[in-house]
Amino acid sequence: MPLDVPAIRSEFPIFRRTINGKRLVYLDSAASSQKPQAVIDAMVHVWSHSYANVHRGLYTLAEEATMAYEDARAKVARFVNASDVAEVINVRNATEGINLVAYSWGEQHVHAGDRIVITELEHHANLVPWQQLAKRKGAKLAYIPVTDDGLLDITVLPGLLDDGRTKVVACSVMSNVLGTLPPVVEIAAMAHAAGALVVMDGAQAAPHMPIDVQSIGADFLAFSGHKLCGPGVGVLWGRRELLEAMPPFLFGGDMILTVKREDSKWNALPYKFEAGTPAIAEVVGLGAAIDYLTGIGMPAIQEHERRLLPYAIARLSEIPELRVLGPGPAERGAVVSFTLEGVHPHDIGALLDEEGICVRAGHHCAQPIHDRFCIPASARASFYIYNDENDVDDLVAALRKTVSLLARR
Ligand code: ALA
Repeated sequence: MPLDVPAIRSEFPIFRRTINGKRLVYLDSAASSQKPQAVIDAMVHVWSHSYANVHRGLYTLAEEATMAYEDARAKVARFVNASDVAEVINVRNATEGINLVAYSWGEQHVHAGDRIVITELEHHANLVPWQQLAKRKGAKLAYIPVTDDGLLDITVLPGLLDDGRTKVVACSVMSNVLGTLPPVVEIAAMAHAAGALVVMDGAQAAPHMPIDVQSIGADFLAFSGHKLCGPGVGVLWGRRELLEAMPPFLFGGDMILTVKREDSKWNALPYKFEAGTPAIAEVVGLGAAIDYLTGIGMPAIQEHERRLLPYAIARLSEIPELRVLGPGPAERGAVVSFTLEGVHPHDIGALLDEEGICVRAGHHCAQPIHDRFCIPASARASFYIYNDENDVDDLVAALRKTVSLLARR
């Protein structure tokens, strides 16, 4: 059944406002999504009714807060089909989750002369931690290249794996610039056959499609709550045996079992990786966001975007000066980056804002993929559950206006 977009929009208070006197057309969910009232209410409820620190106090409020916090963890586990709730680690964002793996696992297992394989598509969050680990260790960093069509050329992968020196393959489940959906299951199978670990950046994928960590082939998967209608928290899922064997990433309260003057012992999973007071209300808000999205249905969300995306690409392609980056609609998620001949992406962003339209302009934290296409920046429209054809039509009309305005200059 198609999504009832007007009904969904009515559940997001932000859509009641206007921007520059115009209807708000929010096309920047790949950067951060808007929040439904249910998520806002869940967080306000924690703060106004059940707030205390978690895992510490023996009083009613502390127990309520702990229960709400752990209940949210269980929702996340179900959301990604984790077999074990202790495999779900609450972190600040997907970036922190990937850094956790690069430091905790990487420092132990990557050595001089080893190889780390990433892709040209990666967001800096799944690039810089590996680049810097390689530098620290004297390891090599190799890239799976992107074709002119914006797809991964995985024919190079066997050549990068066959000497047995590749320790980790890190790949995005969906590109934040091109929308490309790499064949992650195939990549993971090849990496595992060569004894490499697989780390997936699920920040763009998790809000838009069902994710099953038991079948996707990842050893670790990181994603962010704020892109899936939740607040600013992140999740790292990892296979239990790997997490058990890893040292803590951060040290402090809650992650310890005992502390003596000269040594300490670590708490069980997942707490070993949650040092200090966590973002309690935010984690509860993430649980509410997951309830909200699963209430709509992840397959229905995916289907909605699969319908909207070809319409968006076709309509944008009607503008002769516009070039859409990346593959065709069948091979991508609902992110469309583009350039407009003779117009800097920052000017596109500013002129669209005058029409109440929010897009991202710049390199989208992914400079190497822009280098690959020999452009410094692009504009990006990204779509979600509250977008429909009207938003696309408004975008196209505003872009046409931009072109004619700048042509007159
Ligand atoms: N990762 C976010 C983006 O692509 C911030 O915009």
